[in-house]
Amino acid sequence: MKINKMRSVKGEITVPGDKSISHRAVMLGALADGTTHISGFLKGADCLSTIDCFRKMGIDIEVDGNNVTVHGKGLHGLKKPSETLYTGNSGTTTRLLCGILSGQPFDTSITGDASICKRPMGRVTKPLSLMGADIENEYCPLHIHGKSLKGIEYNMTVASAQVKTALILAALYAEGDTIIHEIEKSRDHTEVMLSAMGADIEVDGLTIKVGKTEKLAPQDIVVPGDISSAAFFMVLGAVMPDSEITIKNVGINPTRTGIIDVFEDMGADMELVNKRSAAGEPVADIIIRSSKLKGTTIGGSVIPRLIDELPVIAVASVFAEGKTVIKDAEELKVKETNRIRAVVDEFKKCGIDITETDDGMIINGGKPIHGADFKTDGDHRMAMSLAILAQLADGDSTLDDSNCVDVSYPTFFEHFYGLEK
Ligand code: S3P
Repeated sequence: MKINKMRSVKGEITVPGDKSISHRAVMLGALADGTTHISGFLKGADCLSTIDCFRKMGIDIEVDGNNVTVHGKGLHGLKKPSETLYTGNSGTTTRLLCGILSGQPFDTSITGDASICKRPMGRVTKPLSLMGADIENEYCPLHIHGKSLKGIEYNMTVASAQVKTALILAALYAEGDTIIHEIEKSRDHTEVMLSAMGADIEVDGLTIKVGKTEKLAPQDIVVPGDISSAAFFMVLGAVMPDSEITIKNVGINPTRTGIIDVFEDMGADMELVNKRSAAGEPVADIIIRSSKLKGTTIGGSVIPRLIDELPVIAVASVFAEGKTVIKDAEELKVKETNRIRAVVDEFKKCGIDITETDDGMIINGGKPIHGADFKTDGDHRMAMSLAILAQLADGDSTLDDSNCVDVSYPTFFEHFYGLEK
């Protein structure tokens, strides 16, 4: 796909629903006793994989546009699927399912696409095994032999909401309490949703205590727009000349707003308006205007709060004056692709002054760049980040695979070109 150039952008968009919340709404809805109504559901490939897996375990799920109805059968209502569960490109589906399936009275197998088969699953299978889980392999395909689980106290070794959530979900089935200590606060949508559904869960800073739970109450879940999708348009609006974009209805849960903190540091012309709450999650509209950005250092506890946004934040830093250092971000290496290597390799094609480090990258911004033929390696967030980079490069750019945006943002290119002034 050739990336058509726009001189400036203006307008209003509503980004699709939050991916993390959409997954959790289906999973917890399936485990609740009764009917869960979800509005604003993200109909991206990853969340559709979650729906498919639960249908294979006997859960009726109706999809009507972005409204999804899940007919939950309770914590003990899943049935053994007759085939291997296929999770596509979705790390969240794969890892969270490990937590749920470890404590079922049946065996299951899970696998996904080529990218999923390269992603480490030992980070969930090892702590789950301490609870009594029996999972073969540390990479997909995984074979899960359902067992009786027991509660544990566990110090997490990575800042990962997927690992944390897998343990929380297993803990719902385990005898005795499970106590999890996070190293950094990661997204807490599971904790928010489970509390609302009446689970035995308490959160105190970095510590989460979960007891065996008999019943989850179904909910009406309103999924806010995904800040990880809004991030592409925050960067586009900030770097394009003579531009202004309003992004409506964006989830601003504090465990997700690292990009807002970084944009403030970089001097972005940005406003959050119309702040409100939707089904327990805070929401706002974000207005972003052309900005004179400056370089910054990004590291430490902000990293889990913006991990998925780092490729597009790297794009912003190319157009910022001075040096940007991204550190403590080793987790980028185990995403859909190795996103440190992918960003560095693709940015170098444009003549960008970028250096790969062990835990991130260093970018010297504010210099002219030229277009290139980009490889996305099937990574949705790389594709969208590179489309924005291409806008301000001299000359033409192409993407080898633009369809991969379907994973999290099927309407990305419509929104992108729809903003041309
Ligand atoms: C997610 C957690 C993050 C994030 C992913 C979604 C979730 O992964 O990168 O896109 O929904 O829990 P990690 O838990 O591996 O950091």
